[in-house]
Amino acid sequence: MIDEADDMLRGCDGSDGLSELFGGRTQASGDKGLLNSVLDGVQVPCVWIANVGPESLAPSSRRRFDYSILFGKLDASQRAAIWRNSVSKFKLNRLVTPSLIETLSGKYETSAGGIAMVLRNLADLKPKAADCAALIGKLLEPHCALLGIQTGSAKGVSRDYSLAGLNIHGDMSPVRIVEAVRAFQDHKGDDPDRPRMNILLSGPPGSGKTEFVKHLGEVLKTKVIVKTGSNLLSMWVGGTEKNIANAFTEAENDRAILFFDEVDGLMQARERAQRSWEVTQVNEILQRMESFAGVFIAATNFLQNLDPASIRRFTFKLAFDYLDHDGKMEFFHKMFKTELTPEETNELDAIAHLVPGDFRTVRQSLFYLGATATNADRLAALRQESDMKRQGGVSSFASPIGFHP
Ligand SMILES: Nc1ncnc2c1ncn2[C@@H]1O[C@H](COP(=O)(O)OP(=O)(O)O)[C@@H](O)[C@H]1O
Ligand SMILES: [Mg+2]
Repeated sequence: MIDEADDMLRGCDGSDGLSELFGGRTQASGDKGLLNSVLDGVQVPCVWIANVGPESLAPSSRRRFDYSILFGKLDASQRAAIWRNSVSKFKLNRLVTPSLIETLSGKYETSAGGIAMVLRNLADLKPKAADCAALIGKLLEPHCALLGIQTGSAKGVSRDYSLAGLNIHGDMSPVRIVEAVRAFQDHKGDDPDRPRMNILLSGPPGSGKTEFVKHLGEVLKTKVIVKTGSNLLSMWVGGTEKNIANAFTEAENDRAILFFDEVDGLMQARERAQRSWEVTQVNEILQRMESFAGVFIAATNFLQNLDPASIRRFTFKLAFDYLDHDGKMEFFHKMFKTELTPEETNELDAIAHLVPGDFRTVRQSLFYLGATATNADRLAALRQESDMKRQGGVSSFASPIGFHP
């Protein structure tokens, strides 16, 4: 068994462009000819273990393996199984309960090595049962930060969430969309022709798109896997397509709602695409959408940049618009829990382009003023949010929001 064989296996003309760029090539790579003659010549059964993906091996070397197994990223149920096995192995069943395992395997996308690290330390530290969950968090958060591992599927939806006040236009009211998604999930059987559940959300920043998807996950008791455009974009050739494919596979395994947030860079119009890979990214998403059996949602701040042909492929489209009179009143009450005088109501009406996020920002900025904050303070702060957008030249000011066929 040749463990940690990464450097030995990386052939001289492997496609390891980046390591070459950073000058790492000379030390990191072996001699492909020599490697291949070793692979051809070994007389005993030989297992090679590498931490790198097959793409960093020269194809001529790859061909020489009789059998190969790719250990992909673990999904939540696989992680739960590893947690369970390891907890028994370290005899920690009393501390790490099944419900804690459920939470941990959903929240931390750790490898088996990370799980073993945590449990080893836990066995040494012997915390009280009540402190156990917090201690595991203390061990896992920095481990994940160090390795760049995403933690936590979406945070919970805000406590005061409701659909009331949102200004949404589209194929269906948001309440009916929630019901349609529920019906889709309850539908039994795997008829390949059954309509897909792909939803596109658009609207200015802060208008409530991300929050709506969290809400959907919560009412349907379904995990939401969130990937932002920047999570998925890769500097490697073909890397983005692979990230996209992996996200769909992960969601399929976890039976989760897959949410691509802020897809603007990822799904821009193909005719405007400067580079071939921008076209293949869009194509990859469209193909995966077609074959995906679960619920797929994408959100964009700039609908006008999106690929028109792709927009048509979504089953439902919802446009989140700036709040209207009723919406502004609703959010003012919801966020500040005060009444407005008729004059203040007029003032609020005069502030243009407000979204739920503005109310939240103002509530946070006035939080420490406590009871000394007045409606005048709140209105002034909201006006400032609105003015800032005008100065920032929000592009959607000029063009109407909504879906144009
Ligand atoms: N329906 C709602 N009820 C209460 N608060 C909301 C609602 N929708 C959005 N918010 C608040 O507005 C903020 C911004 O919303 P978000 O969904 O992040 O906007 P977007 O994704 O469109 O940029 C959220 O953090 C949340 O606090
Ligand atoms: Mg968002």
